[in-house]
Order: sequence, then structure tokens, then C-alpha cells
Amino acid sequence: MILTTDRTVLRPFRDEDATALYEFSRLHQVADAAGWPPHQSVEDSLRVIRSVFASPHVFAVTDRETGTLLGSAGFVGRSRGGYGPDDELGYSLDPRWWGRGIMTEVCRRLIFYGFEEMGLSAIWGTCYDGNDRSRRVMEKCGFQKMFSEMLEDDLGTHLTHFYLLLRPAAGEEELWRNT
Ligand SMILES: CC(C)(COP(=O)(O)OP(=O)(O)OC[C@H]1O[C@@H](n2cnc3c(N)ncnc32)[C@H](O)[C@@H]1OP(=O)(O)O)[C@@H](O)C(=O)NCCC(=O)NCCS
Repeated sequence: MILTTDRTVLRPFRDEDATALYEFSRLHQVADAAGWPPHQSVEDSLRVIRSVFASPHVFAVTDRETGTLLGSAGFVGRSRGGYGPDDELGYSLDPRWWGRGIMTEVCRRLIFYGFEEMGLSAIWGTCYDGNDRSRRVMEKCGFQKMFSEMLEDDLGTHLTHFYLLLRPAAGEEELWRNT
């Protein structure tokens, strides 16, 4: 599946992306915020491409004009229940591209994809306390903060904020369809 936005093409990852993926996934400023250990080598990135990123709902974010890999984004395959079919949106971007609205643009397209193509009723997003860039992406996409809790993962224990976006009711789809 290939999705497009004004500035990006979202496509499946391929093995050849490993070097470019490693270049930004080795950085603490990306990995620590995203909640996974920094990639240690190109081989490490290749393993991620062939495992976590092999899901049909995870996309390589590429520059629409040059094809350069900018980041990763997609649904991580985690359900929290309670609102019908649901999944969690995750994303990371090469810091050279931060602050230009790119991930907000990408997430809006993925939200549309999640509701329309995956048939989701609810989309979750999470971020560690202090990850204001990610928080803003979710807020700009219409997510509402639901709760916060201390969460333990590979990197330790963090105060984590949970955000939710429900599929709009009939007649209110323009909120996300026209973004
Ligand atoms: C989170 C991330 C994907 C954001 O991508 P991006 O394309 O830079 O995001 P956008 O430009 O669409 O939006 C970023 C927002 O954060 C704001 N922002 C930028 N720097 C900020 C800072 N230091 N403090 C608070 N907000 C900041 C921007 O102003 C923008 O909000 P605005 O449009 O209201 O001004 C990127 O920073 C990243 O990859 N971070 C590391 C991995 C990560 O955190 N992943 C998410 C895990 S939950």
C-alpha cells in the first residue's frame, strides 16, 4: 500500500532503507523519545525493518520529490480495547526534518487510513511526559488526552500520557477527511 501527502510518500520499508534508518534511529534524541533502544548498527536497523516494520500498517515516510527516507510511521498493532477495533499510532522522524509539520501531515493521512482502510473505531497515541513535540502532533490531529500513568518498558519507568481519537460520527467526517 502506498499513501501520499502533499510532501511525502508513505510506502512499505525495504532492506535498502537500513542505512538511512540507522542514521537517525541511532540518535538518543529520537530513540529515547520514541521509547526504544538506539539502533546499534545498520544490521540492527535491518532487523527492525524485517520484523517490527514488516507490518502492512507501518510505513517508510519518504520525501515526495527525492525519495529520501525521512522517518517511520504507522500502527503498532496494540489494542487497548473498550472502543471497538482500535490500534496505536507510532512515529519517528529524522531530526533534520523536525519542526516543519511533516509528522502532523503524515499522521492525518494515517488517521484517514486507519478509519477508512483498517476499519478502526479508535486510534490511541502515547507519549512520555516532556515529549512536547509528539504531544503537539497528537493535539493538532484532534486526539484528546485520556489519562496518564507510570509505564515500564525497555528503557525504564516513565510517566506516559495516553491520547485517544475516536472515529467521527456520520456527518462529521470532514474533520479528518479534508485534512
Ligand atoms: C515527534 C516528532 C515525530 C514530531 O515530528 P515533526 O514533524 O517535527 O512534528 P510537527 O512539525 O508536525 O509538530 C511539532 C510541534 O511541536 C512543536 N515544538 C517544536 N519544538 C518544540 C519544543 N521544544 N517544545 C515544545 N513544542 C515544540 C512545534 O512547534 C510543532 O507544534 P506547532 O505546529 O503547534 O508549532 C519528532 O520530533 C520525532 O521524531 N521525535 C522523536 C521520536 C518521537 O518522539 N516519536 C513519538 C513517540 S510518542
